Formats: sequence, structure tokens, C-alpha cells
Amino acid sequence: MEGSSSMLDAEAVADLVLLDPLTEESLVQTLQERFRRRDIYTYIGNVVISVNPYQSLPIYTPEKVEEYRNCSFFAVKPHIYAIADDAYRSLRDRDRDQCILITGESGAGKTEASKLVMSYVAAVSSKGEEVNKVKEQLLQSNPVLEAFGNAKTVRNDNSSRFGKYMDIEFDFKGEPLGGVISNYLLEKSRIVRHVKGERNFHIFYQLLAGASPQLLQQLKLRQDCGHYGYLDREGSSLPGMDDAANFHAMQDAMRIIGFSPTEVTELLQVTAVVLKLGNVQLSSSFQASGMEACSISEPQELHEICELIGLEPGTLERALCSRTVKARDETVLTTLTVPQGYYGRDALAKNIYSRLFDWLVKRINASIQVKSDKQRKVMGVLDIYGFEIFQDNGFEQFIINYCNEKLQQIFILMTLKEEQEEYVREGIQWTPVEFFDNSIICNLIENNTTGILAMLDEECLRPGVVNEDTFLTKLNQLLATHKHYESKETQNARRVTDASLPPRCFRIHHYAGKVTYNVTGFIEKNNDLLFRDLSQAMWAAQHALLRSLFPEGDPQKVSLKLPPTAGFQFKSSVAMLMKNLYSKNPNYIRCIKPNDTKSAMVFTPELVLAQVRYLGLLENVRVRRAGYAFRQLYGPFLQRYKMLNAQTWPRWDRGDREGTEVLLAGLEFPAEELAFGHTKIFIRSPRTLFDLERRRQERVAELATLIQKMFRGWRCRTQYQRMRKSQILISAWFRGHRQKNQYKQMKRSVLILQAYARGWKSRRLLRELKSQCRRHAAATTIAAHWRGYQARKTYRKYFRSSASTCLANFIYRSLVQKYLVGLAKNLPPLSVTDRTWPPAPYRFLDNTNQELKNIFYHWKCKKYRDQLSASRRAQLQARLCASELFKDKKTLYPKSLQQPFRGEYLGLKQNPKYQKLHAVAKDKLVLADSVRKVNRASGKVSTVGAKGDFLLVSDHLIELVTRLYQTFEATTGQALPLHITDRFSTRFPKGDVSITVVESPKASTNGPVCKKKGSNKMEVLVY
Ligand SMILES: Nc1ncnc2c1ncn2[C@@H]1O[C@H](COP(=O)(O)OP(=O)(O)OP(=O)(O)O)[C@@H](O)[C@H]1O
Ligand SMILES: [Mg+2]
Repeated sequence: MEGSSSMLDAEAVADLVLLDPLTEESLVQTLQERFRRRDIYTYIGNVVISVNPYQSLPIYTPEKVEEYRNCSFFAVKPHIYAIADDAYRSLRDRDRDQCILITGESGAGKTEASKLVMSYVAAVSSKGEEVNKVKEQLLQSNPVLEAFGNAKTVRNDNSSRFGKYMDIEFDFKGEPLGGVISNYLLEKSRIVRHVKGERNFHIFYQLLAGASPQLLQQLKLRQDCGHYGYLDREGSSLPGMDDAANFHAMQDAMRIIGFSPTEVTELLQVTAVVLKLGNVQLSSSFQASGMEACSISEPQELHEICELIGLEPGTLERALCSRTVKARDETVLTTLTVPQGYYGRDALAKNIYSRLFDWLVKRINASIQVKSDKQRKVMGVLDIYGFEIFQDNGFEQFIINYCNEKLQQIFILMTLKEEQEEYVREGIQWTPVEFFDNSIICNLIENNTTGILAMLDEECLRPGVVNEDTFLTKLNQLLATHKHYESKETQNARRVTDASLPPRCFRIHHYAGKVTYNVTGFIEKNNDLLFRDLSQAMWAAQHALLRSLFPEGDPQKVSLKLPPTAGFQFKSSVAMLMKNLYSKNPNYIRCIKPNDTKSAMVFTPELVLAQVRYLGLLENVRVRRAGYAFRQLYGPFLQRYKMLNAQTWPRWDRGDREGTEVLLAGLEFPAEELAFGHTKIFIRSPRTLFDLERRRQERVAELATLIQKMFRGWRCRTQYQRMRKSQILISAWFRGHRQKNQYKQMKRSVLILQAYARGWKSRRLLRELKSQCRRHAAATTIAAHWRGYQARKTYRKYFRSSASTCLANFIYRSLVQKYLVGLAKNLPPLSVTDRTWPPAPYRFLDNTNQELKNIFYHWKCKKYRDQLSASRRAQLQARLCASELFKDKKTLYPKSLQQPFRGEYLGLKQNPKYQKLHAVAKDKLVLADSVRKVNRASGKVSTVGAKGDFLLVSDHLIELVTRLYQTFEATTGQALPLHITDRFSTRFPKGDVSITVVESPKASTNGPVCKKKGSNKMEVLVY
């Protein structure tokens, strides 16, 4: 809607076809008003006029791309994207090759427009890894070509100094496959010379600013631009242009395109060689013959160049300072003057660079060319220098303007002339429109015999004296009467005085205005000759790339044929380009430069008016208005729009024209909007076409909706059927599953219930049985007790009351029996000294055991005694008696126990006297021993003799006393009164003495020893 409302805005119509009144002023005013509103694009039908805003506008965003994608051309605001989209869709959907012709003067925005077209097509075409790679390669060709082919000029900081035509190739789906780039006429003179305030090609500045120190060293370059003769010695950097960053971007782009590192290095080496050639200085010298010659004044630079390209310095020096001339069969080496030397040097630099540029384009083409044999559709984008009118116009301007004439011719042929011719052919009523057919000018330039280019070639090839004057004279002769040719001479002939046309100039009335060309340099530039010595020297170099640029330098292939002239080459390449463009559907972008100062949003009406004129925009609008905006064969038209009428849709069985008539009759367009030709239908205004297209889109949308509706209905039905079937199946399965689960659940529950019930029943039964059992047992017990009781009651009288005692006794008896039997088996030894006895096993046997022990001991003793002899017995009795008498009364008694009682110590029995006596007396001998008598009064011991009380001292005292006692008792029947003690007192003459008998530790030989202790104590030591 936005587009259509602005189209009807009378002050700033978007389509100039709707302009009213139609004048040059109103057209410029409209452009100015739209420009003020920042609408830089305007239509004339389907031609887009673009006014350079010199500032970035927010109209190239991805959202904008989406907005224009598949848009209806006239339904949206004019935009370069709309024409790109229209061309792309026409290519993809209608299978028509397209070309987009972008024209306009330098700085009008052609290159930017071409990049926008390419980026739009890249954005809307399909995506994929391979496709993206192709797109990227195509887009990345721009920075590389711009680096080598663009330069800053007074008009444009990034002016393309070559013409470029790029064919982008697509497959049937509209996916980019690759492309081919053609380049036209590089402005190589810029290499050696440029106007003050301009620059040489960007690459030189980029290389010096962006290359690393190592790379610069490798290329033998210095970073300082001022060092190089071919570069601008004043200001090399440009505001807003980062040469170093651009250099890196260019290197990246080369990598993406597929340049190998070696190729990049070689390319930069050749670039460096061109730069360094400008520093090769020549000086004049005189030969021996007196002829002037030139020589290299500072060989350092030359040596470095030769090192870079692998050439012997002498070869290059010779080629720069001399020339081989072939005269008949002889070759003569002639020296060159300094200007000739510089001319040769510059020609070499220009040739190297332009050939390098051609190689670069070829190399890019090798990467981006389509590899498959698929059927292709082509979209060509032409970005070529616009019409140029300078103060001083030379050969280049002539060539450029010729190219623009040709492009204008295409435009005229395609949009005007062909249109009118077609109307006539189709039998349509047509009011002819006045327009200027520039074929006469094209013919003036390119005619093979009388054309300016042909004559220039002729002059270049002609032997004899040839210079620009002879060329101009020839032109004046041949074109004296030509309407579009003028020179001082023709003016003079017509008696016209015109101070604006100087001598040595000719003027051509181009479609866009009159341009005066100075013939100076025409011959030389057209010849574009390079001394053979120089090309041979280049071929001799070892540098592969440089060598390949000069194939004619190969001495084996020396040909005397002159190479084609620059004019001829350009003419043929333009002819090829035209042929190419004619085969495609043209789309036009007309670029306009709004001011000369590159200022943002400044609009200079005079400048724009001049461009509007030479772009022929007014004529363009007129034709659009008078003619029909659209035409198409009945067949395709009917095919495209038949859905707009119920009679023609879906099938029309009769003729296409009839069908179209029926179709359009139903749509009720005004009669003047339509015209029916013999084979085509014509629609006057784009608006009607737009309306038709809109209705078609609506109808298509309706039909699509219908198809969608039917399809959706069918899909829903089938889906419903499927879902229903599935649902039934699922529910059957589900129910089955649920029932199974339920059954399992119930079964489990029943089993549990059963188990519980059975358990309960069993437990109850068990309890019952247990209780029965217990009752039974109780009854039995009770009965037993009862019966016992009864029995006891009955039989009690038969039982002894001491049954228990009897039992106990029995038990005791058996225990005692067991004890006694055990004892009998374990009796201690019969030795009387052994007092051992087994302990009692039960306490109640303690007394018995003790008793038995005593009995046993007594018995043992009795048995011992019984077996004793009479003497032994008497001895033991004596001992016993002694024991009774002395035990515990006499200290030495225990010691005496070992001493046996012998009774006879004196051997008396052997004595004959005693034997006689014994035989007489028959007396019993009790004891015979010697004793010592102690005097009581003195204490002296004597063996015999003294009377009175005495003390007897005997070694066998105990035996003696015992025998005495026994004898007395046996005799008297009474016990002898005895007082046995170890301590007694005796009366010595000097007083009473207390005597104590003490055991001596050792025996003394003389009997007991008396020790006096004090006055009345004495100890008697005995042993
Ligand atoms: N659509 C645009 N938006 C913003 N700036 C633009 C646009 N088009 C062009 N320019 C500006 O104008 C300058 C010149 O544009 P461009 O290089 O495309 O001109 P050209 O027509 O190719 O000139 P030449 O014939 O010298 O190559 C650009 O560098 C850019 O700054
Ligand atoms: Mg350009």
C-alpha cells in the first residue's frame, strides 16, 4: 500500500510515467523532492533511477530483503531490490535470461548498485554449503577486482577504472552455480600518470600500508609511498578508506576465491615490479659515434626488479635502453634516447599491469566458472563507466563514450524502436513518439570502412609518415558532411565560427551531448605497442606468472603480424557484449550523481538535469506513456491469468486469443488499457498489469486456499479415519489390557482372600484340635490323678510308712557301697609312715571316712607290730617310753631319735667275768655304759669314785633313763618319779647357780662344755 500511495503522491510520484506535466523541470523536481525525502529510487515503468545519497541509508537490511522477496514489483516502494527480485524471479520462474544494465557517470553509484543486486540475489537464492561457497566466491571477486581496478579520481574515491560485466549462472531451481567475468579497457595510463588529487590503483597503497615488514622485504619494497615515482607524492591516504584493512580483506577474498599462496605471492611480486619500474631512472650519455644514448643511472632498483623476476639485469637494461630493428634480413641494435627509454619503461609498466589484471580476471573466472554441464540460466550485471565529458577528452573518453553510445543503442532498440516496430508488426494502433536513434553515431564510430575507429586503425597500419594530424585530416575528408561530426576544418568549410573547438580536435554530437576530443595520443594509444625487446626480456624472466603474461616474447613464435589495436579490440569486445545483452531480457538501473562534491544529501538540479538529458529519461517516460507497458503472447498470458475467469478456468478448449478476450472481457478493464495484437496482448499501463497481477495473486491465493481446503479436508478425513481406526484398535487393546489387569487384580485379591479364609479356618481348626488335645490331656491327667488317688487310697494301707526311709537307705547304701568298693580299689600303700587317705565323695561320709582312715592306720600299725621280733619290739617299747618321758621336755631329745638303743656299749657280754657272772646270776642285763660323775659341790667330773649326790653324765642318757624307768616299773609296778628339765639350779659352794642346758652348734671332744655367765648362771653346751 505504501508503494502505491507514494506513487500517487503528485509532488513525488514514485513512477515517473505518472508525472504530470511531463517536463525536464518537473522530472528533476520530482527526483529532488523524493531525494529530500530520502527516497533515492524512482521508477520509469520498470527502469529504476537511483540517485546517489553519499551516505548509508537503512534500506539494505535483511528485513528489507525479506520485504522485497517475492514482492509485486509495483506494490512496494521503488528499490533496487525490487528490480533485482523481478529479474531473479523472471529468470527462475519464466526461464528468461536476464541482464541488469547499470549506467551513469562516474561516482553515480553503479558499482554499489551492482553489489546490491548481487547481494540481494545471494540472499534470496536458496542456501546450502555448496551454494553458499559459490555465492561467497562471487561476492568476494569484488574486493579483489576493486583493489586492482579501482582508484581514487576527482569524481569518485573508489572509481572503477575498468568496465565489468559479470554473468551469474543459476540452475533450474535458481541456485547460483558460478559465473563469468568480462573486463573492458582498464585505464592503464593511470599506472604511470594521474591527475593531481587522484591516486594510482588502490592495490599499490594497500600493499605498502597493509603488508607485513617481512612481505615488504620479500617484495623489496619500502612502506613509504613517497619513495615511488608512480605514486602520488603528496597525500597517499584517503579519509574514510583504510588501505591496510582493505589489503587484508583483499587477501582474505583471494583465499576464499581459491588463490594459492604461491599465486598470491607471484601476483604481489609482479605488482611490486610495476611499482619499482617507475623508479628506474635513465640518464643520457653519448656513444663513440656521437649518437645520444640512454643508460640506467641508478642500477639498484633495476637489480632488485631482476632479482624479483629472476632475470639477468643486463637483459633488462639492454631492453630498456636499446631497441633491435629489423631491416631486410639484418637486425640492428639502435640506442634509445632518454625520452624513448622512459616511454619504453612506462609502456612496459602499463603492459605488465594491464596483462596482470587480465590474468587476475581469468584466474577468478577459473575459480567461479560452472563446473557441471547442467542447463543454466544467466543473469548478467553490467557495471561500466558512464558517459564522460571532460575539459580535455582523449582516446579513453572516446572509447568510453562509444561504449555508452552502444548501451544507449541497446536501450533505444529494446525499449523504443523495437517497441514501435512490434506495435506495427502486431497491427496495433500506434502514435509514433519522437526519439533520437543514435545508431547514426554508433555507425560514425564503428563502421568498418568509414568509421572513426576503422580510420584510426588504417592510419596506425599505414606505412609512411603517420601522426595525429594525418589522422584528423583523413577524418575531415571522409566525414565532412556527417551531421554528428565537427572539426575546425568542417566548421571553416561551413563558415561557422566556433571558438570552443580548438585545432587538433574533433567533436562528436553524442546522444548525450557534444564532446570535443583532442587527437593527441590517439595513434600511440591505439597502437598500444610494446617494444619487442621488452616483451622478450619479460619472457626470458624465470618468474612463472610474469613470463606467462608475455607469450609473444618467445623468440620461437616471433610474428611480423602487428597485434590488434586497442580500438579494434575494444570494438570487438563491445560487439560481443552487445550480442550477449541482446540475447537477454534487459533491466535498467540508471544512476544519477546529485552533486560534484560527494556530499551527503546535496542535490544540484543543474548537474542532475544534464544527466537526465544524456540518460534520455524524458524520452523514456514519453515512450512508456504512449506505448504499452506490457505485452505477452496470448498462450502464456492465458496460461498465466486463466484462473481469473470462470470460463477459462480450469481449461479453455478454443484458441488462445479468443480465450484472452473472454478472460479480459470478464475483468472489465477500460478499453484503452488493452490492445489485442496478432499474436500478443498489450496492456497500456503498469497499473493495469499490476491490477491484473494482484487479481491473479488473489485468485491464486483463493485457489490455493481451495486446494488447501480440499487437501486439508481430505487429509483431515483420512487422518480422522486413521485416527478412528487407531482409536478403536487402541481402545480395544486398552480395554482388553484393562480387563486383563482387572482380572489379574481380582484373581490376586481372591487368592489373598482365599488364603486368609483358609488360614483362618485352619487356624480355627488347629485351635480346636489343640484345645481338644489339651482337654484330652487334662482329662487324662485328671483321670490319672484320680485313678492314682483312688489307687493310693485303696492301696495306702498296703504300703510301709517308712518307704521313703527305705528308699533313702537304699540310696545311701548304694552310695556307701560304691564308696567302699572304690575305696577298696584305691587303698593307700601299707607303709606306716604314709598317712594319705582318699577324701570322702559325699559329705555325709566325712566322719566314716575319717574313721576308716584311722582304722586303716591302726590296722596298718598292728600289722607292722605283729611282724616285729621280740627284741625289736622291746627296742621300740623302750623308744616309746623314752618318747613319753622326754618328748618336749628335753631339748636334745629329737636329736637322739637317730641314735639306736643298743643297751650294751661296753662289750660286756664278751667279757669272761660278766659271762661267768651272768651264768651264775642269770641276771638280765639292762644297760651297760660308762658315765661321768659330776660333783655337785665343785662341778668336777669324774669317772668313778666319789660319794654323795652325784650327777651322771652319759652319752646315752635318754636310753639310760628309759631303761631305768622301765625296769623300775616292771619291778615295782609303779612309775618312777622323774623330773626332766633343761634348766635347773644347783648349789655350788659359792652359791646357787642356775644351769641351762643349751644345744651346741658343734660337738666338743671332751664332753659338754660349761660356760659361766655371770656369777650365778651357767650354760652347758651339749651336742
Ligand atoms: N546506495 C548508496 N548508498 C550510499 N552510498 C552510496 C550508494 N551508492 C553510491 N554511494 C557512494 O558513492 C560512491 C561512488 O559510488 P560508485 O563507486 O558505485 O560509483 P560508480 O558509479 O561505480 O563510479 P565509477 O564509474 O567511477 O566507478 C561510493 O563509494 C559510495 O560512497
Ligand atoms: Mg564503479
